[in-house]
Amino acid sequence: MKLFRLFIASLFALGLSACASKIDCTVPARIVDGTIVTQVPPRAPGQASMLRFAAEPIDTVRIALVGLGMRGTGTLKRLIHHDQSEARLVAVCDVLEENVNKALQIVADAGLPAPAPYIGEEAYKELCARPDVDLVYVVTDWIHHTPIAVYAMEQGKHVAIEVPAATTLAECWQLVDTAEKTRRHCMMLENCVYDFFEASCLKMAQEGQFGEIYYAEGAYIHNLDHGWRRYYKNWRLDFNSKFRGDNYPTHGFGPICQALNIHRGDRLRTLVAMDTRSFRGLEHAREIMGVDSFAEGDHTVTLVRTEKDKLMKVEHNVYGIRPYSRMYSLSGTKGYAQKYPLPGGLCFSQKPGSDDARGSEIVEHFEFVPAQVRDSLLAAYRPSIIKGIEERARKVGGHGGMDFIMDLRLVYCLRHGLPLDMDVYDAAEWCSLCELSRISLNNGFAPVEVPDFTRGDWNVIDGYSYAE
Ligand SMILES: NC(=O)c1ccc[n+]([C@@H]2O[C@H](COP(=O)([O-])OP(=O)(O)OC[C@H]3O[C@@H](n4cnc5c(N)ncnc54)[C@H](O)[C@@H]3O)[C@@H](O)[C@H]2O)c1
Repeated sequence: MKLFRLFIASLFALGLSACASKIDCTVPARIVDGTIVTQVPPRAPGQASMLRFAAEPIDTVRIALVGLGMRGTGTLKRLIHHDQSEARLVAVCDVLEENVNKALQIVADAGLPAPAPYIGEEAYKELCARPDVDLVYVVTDWIHHTPIAVYAMEQGKHVAIEVPAATTLAECWQLVDTAEKTRRHCMMLENCVYDFFEASCLKMAQEGQFGEIYYAEGAYIHNLDHGWRRYYKNWRLDFNSKFRGDNYPTHGFGPICQALNIHRGDRLRTLVAMDTRSFRGLEHAREIMGVDSFAEGDHTVTLVRTEKDKLMKVEHNVYGIRPYSRMYSLSGTKGYAQKYPLPGGLCFSQKPGSDDARGSEIVEHFEFVPAQVRDSLLAAYRPSIIKGIEERARKVGGHGGMDFIMDLRLVYCLRHGLPLDMDVYDAAEWCSLCELSRISLNNGFAPVEVPDFTRGDWNVIDGYSYAE
């Protein structure tokens, strides 16, 4: 068996050397029948699948927050709303002393005990050495996400990482391999899966209201003109100036992957991407960075086909003169959901009954159901994990409440020793779009295979579900 694996690896290496000059990516790749295929490394001895992984229950989850910029401050303001017997903040960390001081002040104003402060580029390492930290919550710029999370898992900590958790395929594999080796949770903080429309539509999808979903759309379309200068050391524009592709795919991609049961009965198979050239991105870069080139196109579109022949479209545009949209649409054999433009619409092949979509009357001309029916359906299909905490989450806030729902669920699952709502394979799959779209774009919009991060187990679980 070992010899056979060696033989396969050598064949792969031969293929790689034949085309290495053409494919510029962070993992070995080769071309098979016109499709670019990146290497799936064999699972190393000592690693095991993280599907349905559950850790020992933790009575009070002790959290260390790394990264206290714009988002990190918002995160902190949510974390102080946990019941202190369930979750409490024990340490905070940032490169900038002023950010740490601001964080300490927020905690003091809330009348809570001061978390231990850590300041400096590598101060997270000392923080990870603390025996009283259960969860390291990473809210830095993108390039620090994976290194900090990997280090923390190696020190025995569970990790929650802001989006995107990884920016390259090599980083996606690092997260998967480290979680599998250390048996620590690695959850990406994809908050949009908890937004109310998406969460209710997921339940409707699971109960068959849309029939079989065969096409779904997601996007991150958000003009960031107001904010480019506010990021620490200009990290975001700098990243986009260097890297072509969909650099921020997960808000659009995550919710539709859940609806299509990705790695729970279906898997992402092949993608192709196309983009425009840079127009407004380049203008910003000229003005802010004084450079004359910009890698990321203003608008990037990625099409992904699944093993079960479903299609997904993911778009990215943070430059456009247009309203915010994450698109979020589901097309099924019996119905359709579309969130944007807000307040969204639902459409079915049969007239919905009073509180669900099962009715006897066939609809001939498809229109969105009236707003009142839509709203009552969305409310009726609120998943049970949200129902009990919706009001509290709306009060604490964070994008209307979805951020706090995410935090509460994370803490609940850790406290009860349950599998988390999003596992390390979700993180890797959703983030892999960053580099996979780049590979497609840089190789004449070529088809690229999406690696199976579960290494063959994508069909073991039958459908997405929350652990309760
Ligand atoms: N999920 C969402 O809705 C959402 C919304 C906004 C931002 N984000 C994500 O949050 C992250 C932070 O974004 P932001 O807008 O706060 O950026 P920011 O520039 O305001 O903050 C980044 C912070 O990270 C700190 N930092 C950098 N390197 C560090 C290190 N080695 N150790 C400790 N701290 C370090 C910086 O000092 C800065 O305070 C990004 O990943 C972004 O994509 C997510």
